[in-house]
Amino acid sequence: MIELSLFLPCAAGVEDFLAQEVHALTGRVGQDLLSARGGVRVRAGWRDALKLNLHSRLAQRVLIEVAHGPYRSENDLYGIASGVAWEVWFTPKQTFKIETTAQHSPLQSLNFATLRIKDAIADRFRAKANGVRPSIETQWPDVRVFAHLTTEFCTLYIDTSGEPLFKRGWRQDKGDAPLKETLAAAMLAASGWWNPETGEVSPQPLYDPCCGSGTIAIEAAQIASGIAAGSLRRFGFEKLLPFQSHVWQALKGEATPKADRRATPVFGSDVSHRMVDFAERNAERAGVAQAVQFRGGDALQRMPPAEGGVIMLNPPYGERIEVGGVTRGRRAGNADAPARGREEAQTEDGGEFFVQLASHWKKNYAGWSAWVLTPDMQLPKRMRLKESRRVPMWNGPIECRLFRFDMVAGSARDRASAPPAQP
Ligand SMILES: C[S@@+](CC[C@H](N)C(=O)[O-])C[C@H]1O[C@@H](n2cnc3c(N)ncnc32)[C@H](O)[C@@H]1O
Repeated sequence: MIELSLFLPCAAGVEDFLAQEVHALTGRVGQDLLSARGGVRVRAGWRDALKLNLHSRLAQRVLIEVAHGPYRSENDLYGIASGVAWEVWFTPKQTFKIETTAQHSPLQSLNFATLRIKDAIADRFRAKANGVRPSIETQWPDVRVFAHLTTEFCTLYIDTSGEPLFKRGWRQDKGDAPLKETLAAAMLAASGWWNPETGEVSPQPLYDPCCGSGTIAIEAAQIASGIAAGSLRRFGFEKLLPFQSHVWQALKGEATPKADRRATPVFGSDVSHRMVDFAERNAERAGVAQAVQFRGGDALQRMPPAEGGVIMLNPPYGERIEVGGVTRGRRAGNADAPARGREEAQTEDGGEFFVQLASHWKKNYAGWSAWVLTPDMQLPKRMRLKESRRVPMWNGPIECRLFRFDMVAGSARDRASAPPAQP
């Protein structure tokens, strides 16, 4: 087996969970498996690269390192890229794209750097293939090359994933602020509900009361049902020269979930019926329509869907999404009147919604633990709850915290005034 040096980028803060997942999928340890900033490096074979694409829930991509060397100028980049045997990976008839990222690079223009790397690849093909060279395609390239520049070093990678791995292929209906599937999986790992090292899932029911298009619930239901993350999508490696269909089909065959597997119950609800409809359609496509139950309803009113368990959500935040349902209706004095009281009901100031949510949980969700992802570092204070954990996480460029709150029983008076259970 030819050993490759793979790099799997991931969101900051997720590296250790990803390393556990990669260990479980490849068996690699020690110097062969290293957590780096923003990703995991692993020495493994081509078949492992395919397997990681198919199964990883936490990686953004699977990249193969093809060159690494010091540089000071764009011409050095040309030299490094010229030395790579690109013809082993793709043909001059295919299209390609280069994406360059940099951390403290001394170069003036990343565009020019990218251009020099492109020239080097084109010139190498021209020399090897009687003047024929692959062309650039920025939107739907057959092949993606990644260049990463630090102060002194340039690393070149060939991508095996194609579309980023958070695109699982089932989320075709989505709302305004959907969570990336990779981040939903990271939340499940950080909470301990899913163990990426063993693949085990907690027996505790999982519930997202602001589920939107259903990302957290569907991701959880797929994990609990043993459905591979990438089973519904295509990958970049299918267009690379080492690709062999029979190897890929065998890997996919091995990934078929066991029919007798008993899945942990998963629930989701949202105040917007349109979102619930989206979530149901997404669950259908993801193959988990039977494993997850979606309902309409206000998070401030919905009663627990099970006796105890884990609540997990990224709640509405800021001006982009308004808090719906009971808060708005009560304030307006009319459940159907949308306008008056809207500003006060928004989550931007953290006011009403979170105070009411905390009091609803205290009254009705005793014994549950709630994990809330938010960019609002003051959320525990706003909810008047003391967190028992705070895990740093990044939602794209936004720094967030995943807070854990443990619900203990509220006072008898609180319980006496609780609303009746919904069907
Ligand atoms: C940030 S989004 C959640 C996105 C979701 N995780 C996804 O990936 O699609 C917040 C969701 O909270 C819902 N929401 C707002 N107010 C609510 C309320 N009072 N009760 C339940 N859901 C509410 C919105 O409809 C929206 O779908």
